[in-house]
Amino acid sequence: MITITVYYSWLLGISPTPSSPAAKKALLELLPSSIEGKVYELGAGWGGLLKELHDRYPNVVGFELSPLPWLVCKLRGLPCIRKDFFQQDLKEAKLIICYLYPGAMKRLQHKFETELKPGTIIISNTFQIPGWQPQEVRELHDLYKSKIYLYRKS
Ligand SMILES: C[S@@+](CC[C@H](N)C(=O)[O-])C[C@H]1O[C@@H](n2cnc3c(N)ncnc32)[C@H](O)[C@@H]1O
Repeated sequence: MITITVYYSWLLGISPTPSSPAAKKALLELLPSSIEGKVYELGAGWGGLLKELHDRYPNVVGFELSPLPWLVCKLRGLPCIRKDFFQQDLKEAKLIICYLYPGAMKRLQHKFETELKPGTIIISNTFQIPGWQPQEVRELHDLYKSKIYLYRKS
């Protein structure tokens, strides 16, 4: 199972590294207390953040392709689908949460521009959407001065 997880980390370009407690706290502070409509976490990892999102947004759905992290999400009773989120139509989303890597954000930029409805909120841990202007940025007091970016589709 560890070999499979390493293989998927190589395949997807990112390991299932969880958001830090400080990043989770900042993210949840920036997010609205409720949302009418679909909430997606793109790349749910082991489900740590998905659990907290689920407590706030019972309608959240996580996407995770790596089998072991996905299985852990399911064992935790979390709403997680084993699917490549690039294959998911995002047009129904009202809120999107992600912690990915620059290459994925570049691919998502096009997807967000073509699929998302105006007003959809996107919140990204560490990595920016190329060419988009964040509505709000929260800097963390960690070693890397990581940032949380909040965007609203125009
Ligand atoms: C850095 S982890 C973030 C985990 C969690 N979102 C958090 O913030 O704690 C990124 C996750 O995205 C998953 N992932 C990357 N590309 C994916 C794709 N195209 N479809 C589904 N999952 C993907 C990886 O397997 C990994 O578990």
